[in-house]
Amino acid sequence: MYKVIIDHNPSQSDNEVVKEGLIKSYEAQFGERDKEFSIFLKSDSGKVFGGIQAMFDSEAIYIEALWIEESLRKQGYGKKMLAAAEREAIENGCRFSLVDTWDFQAEEFYLKNGYEKTGELKNYWHSHSKLFLRKKLHPSEFNFSPAVSSQISLIHRWLQQDHIKEWIHGTGLQNTLKGLEKFFHGESSTTYWIGYHKGTPFAFLITSPEGPDATTLDLFICDLNYLGKRLAVPMIREFLTSQFPNVKKVLIDPEATNARAIHVYQKAGFKIIGEFIASWHPVLHYQMELYMKDLLNPKKEIGA
Ligand SMILES: CC(C)(COP(=O)(O)OP(=O)(O)OC[C@H]1O[C@@H](n2cnc3c(N)ncnc32)[C@H](O)[C@@H]1OP(=O)(O)O)[C@@H](O)C(=O)NCCC(=O)NCCS
Repeated sequence: MYKVIIDHNPSQSDNEVVKEGLIKSYEAQFGERDKEFSIFLKSDSGKVFGGIQAMFDSEAIYIEALWIEESLRKQGYGKKMLAAAEREAIENGCRFSLVDTWDFQAEEFYLKNGYEKTGELKNYWHSHSKLFLRKKLHPSEFNFSPAVSSQISLIHRWLQQDHIKEWIHGTGLQNTLKGLEKFFHGESSTTYWIGYHKGTPFAFLITSPEGPDATTLDLFICDLNYLGKRLAVPMIREFLTSQFPNVKKVLIDPEATNARAIHVYQKAGFKIIGEFIASWHPVLHYQMELYMKDLLNPKKEIGA
């Protein structure tokens, strides 16, 4: 027989049993155990005047509690403590910091410190809203936007370079240029992207939906100043995680002799799953695929 008991003065050890049970269920779900740490703001005598309680796994840190004694507010201590918590998270491999707060609490503080509001539950408690915020802990040096028609001459110039012509010429090149025109007229499901590194355009990427949960990918590092600088793998990761986080897999089909591209794709997690003779250039090509779950959980990918 089990009884339900209300305890207004619960012992720490009883509470521990419940907490430990919950942590174990997360562990079963995610294959790792959350870790906890605290950060304190202390006086010289060791008295606590503020602190952060946080927990983290390999993906994210969650700020459970943040508090500073009233007389010490607005003096930069909150920012310092939050930065210390985020540094600790980055050193432990986290990609995100997560927090939730109330509309009467610290929304502005988190927004000022680089957090984005990702959700709001209006009228959740005493007619107040619960806010959910998130910060990416490695701000990217890359960003990507669909090409615009004023970039057509840049793209033409890029595609005429020897290191690009080697892999895209004849029918393949004609198809790309025709597709680009259609895209600029809004008549294409293929998207032509420009990749930027710290604001400078340097890469050209092409994606097409392939069924309901996959996309194809083609990519070119065009600006010679960016070629051979080991940017290809981080660029692929950043492009796919930022633009295609919800697809299941990504398909790419390099020429079998394009050893540099194949090396880069394998490093990013693509695997060769087949080969074919392409209609646009009748030589051997590889079919390669990448499961987004492998890209989104890089730790599980090691040694795969
Ligand atoms: C494929 C491409 C995007 C890669 O970008 P990149 O700037 O050259 O690549 P990076 O500097 O990031 O990385 C190159 C990697 O390939 C390796 N590499 C270079 N030449 C190689 C070759 N001939 N064979 C095998 N690996 C090679 C480098 O050693 C490096 O690997 P490492 O980091 O493990 O040492 C770029 O070369 C490109 O745009 N090429 C022309 C277009 C193209 O081929 N597109 C692919 C169409 S499917």
